[in-house]
Order: sequence, then C-alpha cells, then structure tokens
Amino acid sequence: MVTDLFDRIKGDKGPLGKWAEKAEGYYVFPKLEGPISNRMSFNGKKVITWSINDYLGLANHPEVLKVDGESASTDGMAYPMGARMMSGHTKYHEQLEQECAEFVGKEKAYLVNFGYQGMVSAIDALVTKNDIIVYDMDTHACIIDGVRLHAGKRFVYRHNDIESCEKNLQRATKMAEKTGGGILLVSEGVFGMRGEQGRLKEIVALKEKYNFRLLVDDAHGFGTLGENGRGTGFEQGVQDGIDVYFATFAKSMAGIGAFFAGDADVIQYLQYNMRSQMFAKSLPMPMVKGALKRLDMIRTMPELKDKLWEITNALQSGLRNAGFDLGTTQTCITPVYLKGDIPEAMAMVNDLRENHGVFCSIVVYPVIPKGLIILRLIPTARHTIEDVNETIKAFSAIREKLENGTYKKIAEQIVS
Ligand SMILES: Cc1ncc(COP(=O)(O)O)c(C=O)c1O
Repeated sequence: MVTDLFDRIKGDKGPLGKWAEKAEGYYVFPKLEGPISNRMSFNGKKVITWSINDYLGLANHPEVLKVDGESASTDGMAYPMGARMMSGHTKYHEQLEQECAEFVGKEKAYLVNFGYQGMVSAIDALVTKNDIIVYDMDTHACIIDGVRLHAGKRFVYRHNDIESCEKNLQRATKMAEKTGGGILLVSEGVFGMRGEQGRLKEIVALKEKYNFRLLVDDAHGFGTLGENGRGTGFEQGVQDGIDVYFATFAKSMAGIGAFFAGDADVIQYLQYNMRSQMFAKSLPMPMVKGALKRLDMIRTMPELKDKLWEITNALQSGLRNAGFDLGTTQTCITPVYLKGDIPEAMAMVNDLRENHGVFCSIVVYPVIPKGLIILRLIPTARHTIEDVNETIKAFSAIREKLENGTYKKIAEQIVS
C-alpha cells in the first residue's frame, strides 16, 4: 500500500515541529524588533538581547549602514546576476576573497553564499568514496549534513576528546590503506553551544603521526579570537596546520556569506567543484561591498574586539561569582547550566523575558540530556556593564524560583 506522503507529515511533525503550537512566536520564531542592538523589543517590551551573534556590534554601525545602503541603491540587490562561473563574477568578489585570504594567513580564498550550504558542498567536493572523514560528534549541522552526502566511510570521535580522535584516526588510516583514499578531519574552531575551543593545537600535532588534512569551521572564532580577530588558528598558534579554513560572515561580520581559505590549488579545486556555488546565484554586491567594509573595520578597529571581551569577562566572572555553572566555555559564548524539566524551563524563560526584561536562547532536551537547561548568552561589543549587572541580578532571581519549585507549580497549573 502506498501511503499519502502528507498524511505522514501531518501525523509526525518532527522533533521540533511537534512543539510548534506551544512554542511558536515565543520560544521559537520569536520576533525581535527594532534596530539590532543590546536592547530590542519583544512582545512590545524592551529586553536586553543576548541572543544575537553580532559579536563586534557591526550590524548597525553607521559606517556599515552607509556602505550597505549606497551599494543597495547604486548596484541594486540583484547585481551580479548568475552563478560566479557564468555571469556572476566581479572584481569586488575577487577583492574580498583576496582580503579574506590575507587576513587569515592563507594563499587564496573563495566565497560561498551561505556558510551552511558552502560547508555541505565543500565536504562533498573534497572527498570521494575512497576517502574517510573523521569528525567531532558535536559539530554543527552543516558538517553533519556534509558528512551525510559522503559515499565512503566516516568515523566520529567523542567531543573534543583527543584520545578518541587519535583512535579514530588509526581506524581511518587502516581503512584508507585498503581503499587507497585520504583522510579529512573536520572540527570547529569554537563549538557554538558550549563555547569550547576545538583542540586544534593537539589535532595539528597528530599530523606528525597520521596523514590527514584538517578542515576547520571557525564561524564563532573569526572576529572574536586571535590577534585582531583572525580566528582560533591564530589564537592557538596553529593556523598553518589548518588546511582548509572556513568562516561565515553571519556572526562577527554581521552579514551574509562565508569563505573558504587555504592553498591556492585546493581553493581553486573548490571553486570548480563546489556544486552549491556552481549552480547558484553569486553573492549580491551590497553583501560583498558591505563585507569589505566590515573586514576593514575588524582589521583596523581592535577596540571592537577589546570591548566584546570586556563585556564577556564581566558577564562570565559576574555569573561565576554569583555561583552559576558556565561549564567549560573558553570563548565569548556563555552557557548557563541549570537543572529542570522542559515545562519548568518554559515558565522560567517566560518570567525572565516578561518580568526581568532579559532575552536569551534556551536549549533543552533533545539537544542536551534530559533534566538539563542551558540559557545561552552571546555578549557583544554593543552591550554595557549595566546590561551585565541587570542580567546577573535577573538570573539570581530566576534561579531562586527554579530551586524553590515556583516554576514547577506554574507549569503544573498551565497543564491542569
Ligand atoms: C559553526 C557554524 N557553522 C556554520 C554556520 C552556518 O553559517 P551561515 O549562517 O553563513 O549559513 C553556523 C551558523 O549558523 C555555525 O554556527
């Protein structure tokens, strides 16, 4: 019997979709309104916004708005039309690639329109069925989905566990000896949920013993770590050991687009083999000229990164001093670990937003183990010390209510 595809879809909305009725518009798909800033409007109220990856506060910087606006009005949002290879290539795309490559200390760079699609496509292009992928189990969905396209073997290692990484490199090496293929190891520079840096120094050291190439997704490290924000490879002093470096413009650059950087021949190979770019329209000019401006500001205004870290250090030390568990973060990403079930977490976040005017992301099962709640805060250069102090006060108040069962009672009343 052939079932109707849509009957299944209506019956099973998926792991997140099943929460749509309860959560949509508030816990998921919330509408943050007003200019991107440290304080925005949510449900008609001003809230301190800790959920936006505008690390360096460039999204609404007047100089950025000026360049974005001028390009939008003179070049339009369409130019250039077509894929890069056909009719979507300009000297500005080339200039941006050159500047990105120089900034991250690589020979050549190539732009992609979205980091997610680019990463899926780059992994697809870099390996054939005889090659083996070794990757960290906590990597971003774009890496997982790139690996899903791979027709050959893959080995996943325990998160940031070098022993497990080495064991899997040994397995991959044995396998590659049989297939005659190579090994691609994929890690993140900064893990976006818990804020740990990938152990790039130790991974690069493994190159002494094993023959593999290293691809690093540095979405959160670019702009926030290393000298002048040149990324996690610089922070750990191992940028040369990263064979293919990736960063998105969607975070510190407050834009759209991303790039891969590495040796000229490898990047040229990606340029001619990444299907997401060969068969899709090129990045529009306002995004390209806007990215050139943003990159210039990151390069020449170290005070932006200094301010980001001033706020990060104040927030993290303040929360730790108030007794909060921030796990193992080594970056600006600030996860606050609490204990409770999903209904309690929802009641708590509601209180935090409505009564304390603090907006942050909430992470619960199945993304993390049952019984754990992560409230994830992203500091930016736009935040102030008052934002930090108000937030710590609010967090102390909600923790007390979580621990004395107030949110459990509220959640039970809603259910009954
Ligand atoms: C680690 C990581 N990789 C890739 C991406 C995707 O980048 P983009 O938003 O440019 O598609 C993100 C961001 O969402 C990310 O956090």
